[in-house]
Amino acid sequence: ASEQLTDKFGRNITYVRISVTDRCDFRCVYCMSEDMTFLPRAQVLTLEEIHTIARAFTELGVNKIRFTGGEPLVRRDVIKLFKEVGALPGLKDFCLTTNGSQLPRYAQQLKEAGLTRINISLDSLQEERFKTLTRTGDLQQVIAGIDAACAAGFSGIKLNAVVLSGRNDDEVVDLVSFARDKQIDLSFIEEMPLGVIAEHDRAETYFSSEQVKALITERFPLIPTTESSGGPAKYWRMADSNSRIGFISPHSNNFCGDCNRVRVTAEGLLLLCLGNEHAVDLKAILRRYPGDLEHLKEVIRKAIEHKPEEHRFTSDGDVQIVRFMNMTGG
Ligand code: GTP
Ligand code: 5AD
Ligand code: SF4
Repeated sequence: ASEQLTDKFGRNITYVRISVTDRCDFRCVYCMSEDMTFLPRAQVLTLEEIHTIARAFTELGVNKIRFTGGEPLVRRDVIKLFKEVGALPGLKDFCLTTNGSQLPRYAQQLKEAGLTRINISLDSLQEERFKTLTRTGDLQQVIAGIDAACAAGFSGIKLNAVVLSGRNDDEVVDLVSFARDKQIDLSFIEEMPLGVIAEHDRAETYFSSEQVKALITERFPLIPTTESSGGPAKYWRMADSNSRIGFISPHSNNFCGDCNRVRVTAEGLLLLCLGNEHAVDLKAILRRYPGDLEHLKEVIRKAIEHKPEEHRFTSDGDVQIVRFMNMTGG
């Protein structure tokens, strides 16, 4: 595409994260409350609407799309959508963020749909604890999913671990060893204050990337790199392994200056920044002007101009975003 989306701070928007469903088969403690209610189906974008939005963005110069959730793979017929989006001209990087539970079934089809990279959440390698953190997840199923993704021949597989003080901070080195054994990358994530979760006190579980790094370097010396996957993660290497260790540190490291992305929520809100509420209702536009791609593109162009300069997360639980993480998929 000759066109480029640029915001008023000069940032080029080339990356869109689209949540295909707010539903999930897990209930991770930092993401959802125990008795989460989900959106009525009519409020969620149809697969066709998602396809249209993806098409509009690629025509506006976006070259990277990541599908997120909830859990994308619990949505019926999602593979059909992936095949269509995978064929859009201009798309260079086509990614999925998943909890891994459905990968034993879908990994091969995802590869065939043209997906280039998969991020899989893995917060614990202890069966009981994995159950406690995800409430409904099964560790062995996720490990089978990771193996299925490796077997399907994806070159870009990354694990994501959210580290919570007192819950899984003692597993940092084990998780690194696991990633090294599988020769895949691993990112450690600082928890973000999205959604008010009654049973979970975030000020209590805050664990910084610096603390994680200190635990790793006792065992595996880390070598800094300037590599980037086009996201907020800062990557380090180890001398004796191909695995990279990333740190996503929204609290301790401000990466907003070179932010290249926007998000579309499961209900079709174009969200200009994860840490703000600024949003434009693309679903309303799509349903009011069906089939009018040019109008949709014009709305997107205008919206991008209002992308906020930065998020304002703090680690004391102060700036809370009401929206839950499963609406935006991170
Ligand atoms: P790439 O975008 O391909 O580099 O992958 P990623 O690691 O950013 O994506 P993934 O979906 O695996 O998300 C991992 C974590 O990064 C999640 O907790 C996201 O919420 C977080 N994240 C991704 N982008 C942003 C961002 O722009 N701002 C903030 N604060 N967090 C982000
Ligand atoms: N803070 C940080 N990361 C989160 N994730 C879900 N909720 C939160 C949160 N509140 C992570 C998941 C997944 C990724 C998409 O976002 O563990 O790996
Ligand atoms: Fe589901 Fe991901 Fe939220 Fe866990 S973090 S409940 S896997 S959407």
